[in-house]
Amino acid sequence: MKFYQLDAATRRKRLTAEGYLTPEEAAAWAQPALPSSVAEALSENIIGEFALPLGIARDLVVNGKLYQVPMATEEPSVVAAASNGARLAGLNGGVKATTEAHLVTGEIVFADLAAPAQAQALIAKRQGELLTQAQAAHPSIVQRGGGVKAITTTIIGRFLKIAVVIDTQAAMGANIVNTICEHLAAVLQTWLQQPALVAILSNASKQLTTATVHLTPASLATKTISGEQIAARIVLLSELAQVDGDRAVTHNKGILNGIVAAVLASGNDTRAVAASIGAYAAQSGQYQPLSTWKMVQGQLVGELTLPLTVGVVGGAISALPRAQAVKQLGHYTSVAVLQTVLASLGLVQNLAALRALAGPGIQAGHMALQANALAMAAGAKGAEIAAVATALQTRRKDLATAQAILAEIRKKG
Ligand code: MEV
Repeated sequence: MKFYQLDAATRRKRLTAEGYLTPEEAAAWAQPALPSSVAEALSENIIGEFALPLGIARDLVVNGKLYQVPMATEEPSVVAAASNGARLAGLNGGVKATTEAHLVTGEIVFADLAAPAQAQALIAKRQGELLTQAQAAHPSIVQRGGGVKAITTTIIGRFLKIAVVIDTQAAMGANIVNTICEHLAAVLQTWLQQPALVAILSNASKQLTTATVHLTPASLATKTISGEQIAARIVLLSELAQVDGDRAVTHNKGILNGIVAAVLASGNDTRAVAASIGAYAAQSGQYQPLSTWKMVQGQLVGELTLPLTVGVVGGAISALPRAQAVKQLGHYTSVAVLQTVLASLGLVQNLAALRALAGPGIQAGHMALQANALAMAAGAKGAEIAAVATALQTRRKDLATAQAILAEIRKKG
């Protein structure tokens, strides 16, 4: 049977047989997610926990290695599309991905200094002292091989901005950067005789990850449309997203469908990831698609570039038992691995969406997968859910029909 046709327990058994889970890890996935002591310690005003299904995007080939990518999402078509896109990419040698060094920037800003150019010169002259202060502010990151790599200054109108570039090693780095920046702000305040306006991490990341896939058009064929036609329409959709900002937003939403679900499962900060990606897409002044699709020497070539502000240790990643289990299952051994897997997932998610749009449209597959949710919204419980969902496959897929089917099933007993 195919993975999606199994029940959750059998899927866990299959991943165990494939070597992706140990028997202990498989047993842990069957348990409730969050001990109340962890929940209490992690957030505020807790009244319970909010659970999402954890699905697996199967067999994503990234740089020649096979990944099973955990995705936390309420939307079944997202996981199905990711697996489908991964399958198509896998037929064509998989995705290649690269990522730049993991550096995070913080900014300390002063407003209305009497002599901003002089302040710049002073900071340049005493940069060694600032670096020593930065190391003293967070010695453990220096011991781990990271710490401040550069300090630059820029005058922007009435503001003097001091940008501090920090190697945060395996951490996403928000806490490390904020600790160092607040410490340096206090030092600079004494030098400049004025309080800083702000000292905080910037979510505008300059470190980019790129994923590329080369596809033979024939591999994209659907039941009714040739692969060449699909490929040509994907190229047109890509061009449309470059000139129509409204379409670009939806194009990028398809990419984020995969990335946000995998980032959430990894215990990383989805808001930080979304903020930096949005800024990157708009950096030219016109909101742009994050990926492009072109025909090159008879092959459809897709390329996705974006910042991915994530880590593999620290904060909720280390505190949430499920995030730890996801790290294990996803083989997220470093920030670079996580970033390359996320970008590859975004690219195949985009591929699956564009292929559906270029072919039959998305509603056929989407609504078939929504049948379970509709059945539950109609009030189906236990075995009724599958019964209503099956009946919905050949009927109009709306709530009223689901309710009518449920009433029929209950009447028949
Ligand atoms: C739906 O969640 C995502 C899509 O709209 C993406 C796209 O249009 O490219 C299908």
